[in-house]
Amino acid sequence: MNTVLHMNLGEDSYDIIVERGALGKASEYLKLDRKVLILTDSGVPEEYSRTVADMCKTPYIYTIEQGEASKSFESFKAILEVMCEKEFTRTDCVVAVGGGVCGDLAGFCAACYMRGIDFYNIPTTVLSQVDSSIGGKTAVDFGGYKNIVGAFHQPKKVIIDNNVLLTLPERRIADGLSESLKMAATYDKELFELFENNTKEEIFGEKIDEIIIGSLKIKKDVVEKDEKETGLRRILNFGHTVAHALESCEDFDGYFHGECVAIGMLPMCEGEVRERIRTQLCKMGLPTKPFGDAEKVLSAIAHDKKLSGSTLSAVYVPKIGEYEIRKVQLCEYRKELSEYFENC
Ligand SMILES: NC(=O)c1ccc[n+]([C@@H]2O[C@H](COP(=O)([O-])OP(=O)(O)OC[C@H]3O[C@@H](n4cnc5c(N)ncnc54)[C@H](O)[C@@H]3O)[C@@H](O)[C@H]2O)c1
Repeated sequence: MNTVLHMNLGEDSYDIIVERGALGKASEYLKLDRKVLILTDSGVPEEYSRTVADMCKTPYIYTIEQGEASKSFESFKAILEVMCEKEFTRTDCVVAVGGGVCGDLAGFCAACYMRGIDFYNIPTTVLSQVDSSIGGKTAVDFGGYKNIVGAFHQPKKVIIDNNVLLTLPERRIADGLSESLKMAATYDKELFELFENNTKEEIFGEKIDEIIIGSLKIKKDVVEKDEKETGLRRILNFGHTVAHALESCEDFDGYFHGECVAIGMLPMCEGEVRERIRTQLCKMGLPTKPFGDAEKVLSAIAHDKKLSGSTLSAVYVPKIGEYEIRKVQLCEYRKELSEYFENC
């Protein structure tokens, strides 16, 4: 079955193709009769990038070390060096075959090379399929800050082939589904109920295509309404203030991003809503309790680069499927969180 979603952004519009087996037919969807820089990482099964390379006229596979550390200026420079050396022109392109690290880095290279060349994304993790591969945010980490140097550069097409998830470890699947649950909680009651009405095995198995498509529809709708994150797109940050703080703490010990988001969503809702979200997170084996020193987490929030002065825009979920963006004073927010940390 093939589902095509159209991201409607004027002249930057593109199709998102969701189809099992689409990787093997990439040349039907992408213009590959040119020089193609394929960016992948050492943890992505090699056959995925090879499959794409075999369909290209002039492919160059560039493999970075797996992990966030590769989303760096050094990798960015090295990839641009290859593109210069191989004499890529404005009509050539970059394809990402991997998770959000490959997608963000490849997209940023494509955004900068000759002031912008074509970029295609073939995301291979749940997180990148439901979230990072669409919306045009590209970046590298720099100076100890995540995503601090980047650009908006929309892909020309996105291919989502869920067969690639067969090689993805279960913990990574849950990690990505945390972002789906986040979108459902803020925006789509029916998608949230789909989680509630199915077992973990069904969610990770036969229902995953439906969940991925449902999540993509939410993200598409939000991006179409607010491409550059001046308002509505902030709802995608539900759970992210605490998540980023957890990630920036010294004693952050190997938790994945979606796992930190799982922990970060719970203080941003109350009562029945909190319990419903917690139940789903537990069912999927995601963490729900903050780790590390609460004081350090609270201080990290004060140093969040997204903070404007002493206020922050916090996303709350008052009811499943609904959101509220509140401007809150940092000191008030710290107090709220501190109470939550003490009692959870
Ligand atoms: N641009 C955006 O809008 C946006 C949104 C959310 C997150 N992000 C970024 O996404 C990144 C995280 O992405 P991620 O969670 O996909 O992590 P990732 O790209 O590091 O991939 C996770 C791991 O899975 C492995 N892998 C990938 N596909 C696989 C497959 N099919 N089978 C087996 N192993 C596979 C990778 O080698 C890696 O080790 C972060 O850098 C984050 O900042 C960007």
